[in-house]
Amino acid sequence: MQKLEVFGANKLKGQIKISGSKNASLPILAASILSNKKIVLKNLPNVRDIETMLTLLKSLGSKIRFNKNKIIIDNSKQKKKFASYNLVKTMRAGILVLGPLLAKYNSAKVSLPGGCAIGTRPIDIHLKALSKLGVKYKIDQGYVIAKAIKGLKGNKIKFPKISVGATENLIIAASHAKGTTELSNCAIEPEIKDLVNFLNQMGCNIKWISKRKIRIIGVSETKEINYSVMFDRIEAGTYLVAAALTEGNLKIVNITPEIMQTEINILKKIGSKIITKKNELTIIGNKKIKSMKIKTAPYPGFPTDLQAQIMVLLCKANKSSTIKEDIFENRFMHVAELNRMGAKILTNGNKAVIEGNTNFAPAELMATDLRASVSLVLAALIAKGKSVINRIYHLDRGYENIEKKLKKVGAKIKRVS
Ligand code: UD1
Repeated sequence: MQKLEVFGANKLKGQIKISGSKNASLPILAASILSNKKIVLKNLPNVRDIETMLTLLKSLGSKIRFNKNKIIIDNSKQKKKFASYNLVKTMRAGILVLGPLLAKYNSAKVSLPGGCAIGTRPIDIHLKALSKLGVKYKIDQGYVIAKAIKGLKGNKIKFPKISVGATENLIIAASHAKGTTELSNCAIEPEIKDLVNFLNQMGCNIKWISKRKIRIIGVSETKEINYSVMFDRIEAGTYLVAAALTEGNLKIVNITPEIMQTEINILKKIGSKIITKKNELTIIGNKKIKSMKIKTAPYPGFPTDLQAQIMVLLCKANKSSTIKEDIFENRFMHVAELNRMGAKILTNGNKAVIEGNTNFAPAELMATDLRASVSLVLAALIAKGKSVINRIYHLDRGYENIEKKLKKVGAKIKRVS
C-alpha cells in the first residue's frame, strides 16, 4: 500500500496551478447522461473519484474517449439504468446518476451510497424531492428502485435543509421534466452554478430567480457542448493554508479568487498577506498566527471541506481557537492523529477547542478520509523530521499530483510503495 513520506519543515515558495474541481466535475459527468449529443469536457482533475464516475458511466453504456486533456462522451448508445453497489459504495456522488437516469428513462435502480466515515449521510432529501416530481420509489436490498410511470413532471419544491447533492440531483432531473420546476432553499455552492452553466450551454433552460431559488423549464432536446470545468476551490484553499502554515510565499494560479472570499478573509484575519488578481492570488504567510472562532456552513460560509486544514493552522495560533462543524456530525477524525503529533485539541460533539502554540512532532500517521488525510500532510510539512502517512488512497480520491505540486514549491515529500 502506498504511503507518503514528508520531511518537515520547509517554507513553501513558488507557484501552484490548481486543477479542475472534483465536486463540479462529478455532477457534470452525471448530467452528461441526459444528452445523446457529443460532450467534450476540459479541466477534469485526474483523481480517483473522477475515474470512479467514468467507470460508472461506462457501466451504464457511455462511450468515453480521452484526447489530450479532453474527455469526449458519447451517450448515443447509452441505455442501461442500473448503478451497482460496487461502483456507488466507494463514492457517495454515485447517487447523482439517479436524477438523470430517471429523467431519461422514467425508471432506475441505483445502489444506496452506504455509510461514510464522516457521518451517516442519508439521501432522504434527494428521494423526497424526486417524489414531488412524480417518482415512486422503494428501497430493496440496498438499492433505490425508482419509477415515474407518467414521466417526471415539474413542481414547486422547498428543500427542508440545504443539501449540495440533492440540489444537483433535482436540477438535473427537472431540466428534462415536463413543465416548470421551482426549487427553493437550494445550495448555492459555485460547483452548482457550474453545473447550471453546463446544463444551460447544453440546451437546458435554468435560471436563478433569487439567492436560493431556481426555476427550471424542462426541455427534451440537448445540443453538442464543449465545456471547461471550474477550478477546485478546496484544493486552492488547502494550498493557501500550506503557505500560511509554513510562512511561505505562494502564487496560486488558475483560480477565481472572487468566489473564495470567505476563505481569503479568514486567512487575512489569521495573519497572512494576500494579494488577489483576476485569476490568481499571492499569499505570504506570517510567523504570528491569530486565534479564531470558525464555524462551517453552506456556501458562502466557511466550507466543511476545509475544516481539517484550517484546524492545523489554528494549532499554531497565539491563543486557543474554536471550530464548530455544522455540516457533518462526525468530521473530527483528524483530531486524534493531530493530537498524536503534539496538538492539543479537545472535541465535544460538533465543537473543537484548539489550544494554540503547538510545535508539531513528526509521526507515523493513518489517513481516514479525504480532507482529514490532507490535514495530516499539512501538519507533517511543519513537523521537524520525517512523518509517514499511511492509507493515502483517501488523498488520491481528490488531490491531483499532491506530492508533485508540493515538491515543486520546496516541500520534501515522496510517495513510497
Ligand atoms: C457535497 C460535497 C462534499 C461536501 C458537502 C458539503 C460533492 C461530491 N461532495 O456532499 O465534499 O463536504 O457537499 O458541502 O460535491 N443530508 C441529509 N439528507 C440528504 C442529503 C444530505 O440529511 O438527503 C445531510 C448530510 O448528512 C449533511 C448535510 O445534509 O449533514 C449536507 O450534505 P450535502 O450538502 O448533501 O453533502 P453532499 O452533497 O453529500
